[in-house]
Amino acid sequence: MQIGIDKIGLFTPNTYLDLVMLANARGVDPDKYTIGIGQDQMAIAPLSQDSVTMAANAAREVLDDDNRDSIGLLILGTESGIDQSKAGALYVQRLLGLKNARAFEIKEACYGATAGLMTAYDFVTAHPNQKALVIGSDIARYGLDTPGEVTQGAGAVAMIVSAAPHLLALEPATAIHSDDIQDFWRPNYSKEAFARGKYSTEQYIEFFQATWADYRAQTGRTISDFKALTFHLPYTKMGLKALRTILPEATEAEQAQLLDRYQESTLYSRQIGNIYTGALYLGFLSLLEHSTQLVAGDRIGLFSYGSGAISEFFTGILQPSFEKQLAGADHKAMLAARRQLTMPEYENQFQAELPEDGSEYEIDLAMDNAPVILKGVKEHERNYQVRI
Ligand code: COA
Repeated sequence: MQIGIDKIGLFTPNTYLDLVMLANARGVDPDKYTIGIGQDQMAIAPLSQDSVTMAANAAREVLDDDNRDSIGLLILGTESGIDQSKAGALYVQRLLGLKNARAFEIKEACYGATAGLMTAYDFVTAHPNQKALVIGSDIARYGLDTPGEVTQGAGAVAMIVSAAPHLLALEPATAIHSDDIQDFWRPNYSKEAFARGKYSTEQYIEFFQATWADYRAQTGRTISDFKALTFHLPYTKMGLKALRTILPEATEAEQAQLLDRYQESTLYSRQIGNIYTGALYLGFLSLLEHSTQLVAGDRIGLFSYGSGAISEFFTGILQPSFEKQLAGADHKAMLAARRQLTMPEYENQFQAELPEDGSEYEIDLAMDNAPVILKGVKEHERNYQVRI
């Protein structure tokens, strides 16, 4: 029985910052951001979008009358959760009109959605008539005028995991590497992440090499068995650094193809920025929705990395008619319809906060056209609404 990703959906807020503008404002050469780091724009979430609303907005794209009643598991991977106790997945379940799923939230930095995907794989193996909804949803915040500022972003990716999937059948072999390291973290009292940028990049590459070597040893496969390799993308240069370390294993023609596929996998990230848990799947989706070179039967590699840190390299086979499961035109239209923020608007939006003293606050919704929104807070409770 094959199990894997049946459908995949994307949501990102409708405002963004141009990173050449950010570079100019920070007195940095724009080439550092667009070439050295590899980012062009980043999505900026308004107060009316959080990890719950973005998750629900992304998931609406993959739910239909055929799969709605068979969702037995709903996992939200996030590192920008809105509550220390209650799972964001329960709000999401209600906002989607789902019921009685095993609904919970997973945290392990940017690995959370992969933990969800692997759990979903096991769940569907045990319950082939049921499906799982796995979502990665995050707002990446490093702080104004910090080195990591250019690697912020916001968005969510939602996946239906099922038996006989129509998009990508996951293969059983996976390689995992984990260790207790301090490369990126966010203490409970901080709204922004702390990152040791250089160390984090080194560890990401080392963890990739460890899982790649383990995967090769387990399966006997080589780089020639892959039509594309996709990576967790906190910024698009990061995955490229990891890919380059194994490219010498390929022929020159294969290297050129893998680099072309890599560039295709970075196009959404370049415009949306880092979405933490969803970033790998955003890259995977970008590849599928931009490449004209992939065909059913192709093997794709996926490298997931969550700081702290755990990495997993796993693979899947593109299924017949996988193109029919994609909505590239809609996703490109969503990005094209976004409004560019000015620097003052960005800084105001970044600094805007909900009250934390229990007082009532109604969010100005004039600029947010998303179907699921956060209306406001009252007595420490978030008031979510489905508008459409
Ligand atoms: N033109 C072109 N490239 C330029 C340039 C210019 N004018 N100026 C600098 N660059 C290049 C640098 O050579 C470097 O490229 P390289 O890494 O290939 O050598 C790149 O731009 C970044 O420059 P660097 O000096 O390393 O940037 P920094 O010290 O300001 O760090 C980040 C910026 C974003 C890389 C760092 O803060 C970071 O890694 N943050 C996030 C880490 C993270 O999120 N980790 C956890 C998730 S995995």
